[in-house]
Amino acid sequence: MRRRAFIRAAAGTVAVSVLPPLRESVWASDFVEVTLTAAPQRFSPVPGLNFDGVAFNGMIPGPVLRVVHGQRFRATFVNRSGYPTTVHWHGMILPNNMDGADGVTQPAVRDGGSFDYEFLPGPPGTRWYHDHVGRGLERGMFGLFIVEDPNDARADAEFALVFHDVPSLSTIAAAMRGTSSAGMVDPFDSPELTQMAPNHRMGDEIAYEAHCINGASYPSTTPLRVDVGHRVRLRILNANLTQTRYIRLAGHQLTVTHSDGDPLARPLTVDALRVGVGERYDAWFEVSKPGAWLLQGLSTDPLAYQQAVLVYTPGFERATPLGSPESVAGIDYFTYAAAGGIASAEPDLAGTQFHDFTLGGGASGSDQWTINGAVYPNTQKIYVKPNDVVAVRFTNKTDMDHPMHLHGHVFDVLEVDGKTLARPLAKDTSLVRTNGGTLTWRFTANSPPGRWLLHCHNAVHMMDGMMTEIVYR
Ligand code: C2O
Ligand code: CU
Repeated sequence: MRRRAFIRAAAGTVAVSVLPPLRESVWASDFVEVTLTAAPQRFSPVPGLNFDGVAFNGMIPGPVLRVVHGQRFRATFVNRSGYPTTVHWHGMILPNNMDGADGVTQPAVRDGGSFDYEFLPGPPGTRWYHDHVGRGLERGMFGLFIVEDPNDARADAEFALVFHDVPSLSTIAAAMRGTSSAGMVDPFDSPELTQMAPNHRMGDEIAYEAHCINGASYPSTTPLRVDVGHRVRLRILNANLTQTRYIRLAGHQLTVTHSDGDPLARPLTVDALRVGVGERYDAWFEVSKPGAWLLQGLSTDPLAYQQAVLVYTPGFERATPLGSPESVAGIDYFTYAAAGGIASAEPDLAGTQFHDFTLGGGASGSDQWTINGAVYPNTQKIYVKPNDVVAVRFTNKTDMDHPMHLHGHVFDVLEVDGKTLARPLAKDTSLVRTNGGTLTWRFTANSPPGRWLLHCHNAVHMMDGMMTEIVYR
């Protein structure tokens, strides 16, 4: 007999961060169902801000979806958003017609229509879902999707945290034309800032009106209660549209076990995470003493303080929490090279189908971001046969990082900026550094056949053409 569980995601509830152990009935079921209804929603994380959002089930971010690896999943997507749109299941390997890429794997679902997505979620790990047309993503159509790995170490407490930001919609349009006046807000001493020429004119950044974690801005974010002696697991997503986020918990180091949901060969302990757009990290910390600390997104935006949540032990609810400076000077933050270690040999690409992709465009006043000089759909596609091994080397000739993402596959990062990784990192989204940075992926074309998008996850760059496809013949 098929046992079914329904994810109860009541409308109007605030996103909760705590991930309680799954109910027995959920573990025991082999089929998990949810209805996701997208509809306009006023979003006011700070007084005076009234953002015309679009929410899944009345929540921004949408409900955290959780299944156990091996369970089948069905989402009935009801579109009342006002736009034609789709739901993409970021990081999942699934049948191509369930991938939710509008115009590629399915036509967009019209406003007032619905679509049933059904698949076996996997690989296990911290994945997410979002609208793939762009207008929904910028307005709030995104959420975490956790595929529980029954073999994972048990945490004493576990929290899901979506870092997201409220964009100024007019600056998105300007950024797409390359005429936005929004500046860079990366933390002091970050490579993003230090690699930028002085007085450099950007034109491609979005301005953000508020910074949030799980739908709220500090001090209204829901505090995370922890106990001394506990090992705590955080599942973190950067759902910002354009900005890499450095994330730090004052007074603690974070041990990263998974990047984009996939386990690291060796956990890496750092002072801060560096999370590109669309990336996820699972990070653990130990509570060794009582106290109150802030978990924060670091940036030089004057409103950066809003992206914080209180972590406290009982009795310290009202204590002044320890915070972190808006600088990454002198601290160890997560890098692919530190996580993978450096090997002396070059990556072995023998027998692979090799592609060199130069990332370009984005000149001031330009509305184009390119791969090998072309914008989607005129970009060079990669044609594969099942089980082909494909290597893609990116070279970034622009002055912004590019979080390059591949649908429907997990790739290994083999090389970063000329350094070979001793332990390739399994990921689905990876940052390619500015001004000559390189990064090489290798993946096997053993996913369900079809057309799989490869694109930059910076929403402006994606909409301005930095996208191509892997096409199974
Ligand atoms: Cu998060 Cu085309 O993806
Ligand atoms: Cu980009």
